[in-house]
Amino acid sequence: MNASSPEPRWYEPWARASGEARAQQCFADHFGEAAAGVWSAPGRVNLIGEHTDYNFGLALPTIIRHRTFVAASVRDDDDLVIVSSGGEDIVGPGKRWQGPMDDITPESTDGWPAYPAGLVWALRERGYDGPGLNLAFSSSIPIGAGLASSAALTCSTAMAVNALWRLALDSDERHIELAEAAMDAENLMAKTPTGGLDQYTSLFCREGSAIEIDFSTSPPTFRPTPLYFPDYGLALLVIVTPKRHRLTDGRYAQRYDECQQASKALGVQSLREVADDPHGLRRVEGLSEEVLKKRARHVVSEIERVRLVSEELAGTAPAHERFVDIGRQIYRSHTSLAVDFEVSCAELDLAVNAAWTSGALGARLVGGGFGGAAIALVRRTQMDATARLIDQSFMDAGMERPGFLVS
Ligand code: GLA
Repeated sequence: MNASSPEPRWYEPWARASGEARAQQCFADHFGEAAAGVWSAPGRVNLIGEHTDYNFGLALPTIIRHRTFVAASVRDDDDLVIVSSGGEDIVGPGKRWQGPMDDITPESTDGWPAYPAGLVWALRERGYDGPGLNLAFSSSIPIGAGLASSAALTCSTAMAVNALWRLALDSDERHIELAEAAMDAENLMAKTPTGGLDQYTSLFCREGSAIEIDFSTSPPTFRPTPLYFPDYGLALLVIVTPKRHRLTDGRYAQRYDECQQASKALGVQSLREVADDPHGLRRVEGLSEEVLKKRARHVVSEIERVRLVSEELAGTAPAHERFVDIGRQIYRSHTSLAVDFEVSCAELDLAVNAAWTSGALGARLVGGGFGGAAIALVRRTQMDATARLIDQSFMDAGMERPGFLVS
């Protein structure tokens, strides 16, 4: 690394008050008055358990400090109006979207407004209703980074609509409906396939904690798992690679289909059943079709890795031993995602390899893959050096530079 290397670029989170003020300002700029309130929802990273949600498996995500804020009020008519503060924030075709709520259909919206419009549509499909709405968004979550920026859009909208329409979907049990509506908005309206990991995490996970989500039941069950990384001088460094991540290009859907086919070939309803069988991996090895074998091997072994990491987090062995083990599972997850599930790319592999070289305890891609972000479990004192080394590796490889944030 030479002495004149530029500083790594950090995405700074906004303090709650600052995010709320930005959304209020955006609202005032567009609607000429103060909003009735501001609601927000965070993005997420997944410690481990990738592509397990739609296989009825386990995942262990946590939220990030970056959030999407929405300032909102009811209107006198039945229109929905969606605006954003733009700039580095939520971008998309057009900064203002307006239409009667009755006209919202899966065919009628496009671009980022399809997410909040889809949420309103999904709640109305479920029989909830209320007056038209003005919604003004401001977000510090990097877009297209695999950090669930779209779930933060739908979930912040869900919080606002829940309050403004007085739906009282506030208990955990009823909050599930908001998460399901947010999933419908993405799957049916924005036509972005998703398995629920992002929406449940955004709505149910609390700061300082991860949640183990068990997708084997409907609705899933949640187990809060305290994340005491800071107490031991550790942090999760998030590396936002320059390769944008998209779920709509068919490759995520293809992985979903391959998992269905693998289940069928194994004679089970879901790959979770195989993961619960002590001889599950042996059964997977018996699959004759190589691609299905690889996909199933990732899912089954990934569910096992979630179990191992959860056990280590709750365990009583000396902390350094547990963190080394957790880090090892995180590296294994990346290898499995890259080799068996084939959802990595050069940028994500580079980020993980550079994290390894800099001594990170563990690193892997997060989210759907094919671009987006990676995480690295690092000693806090090493965080800047790790970011510099990763940044330099991208420059040396002639790639656009990544950005960084701390979860
Ligand atoms: C995306 C989807 C999630 C999940 C992850 C992979 O983020 O939205 O539902 O499947 O990919 O774990």
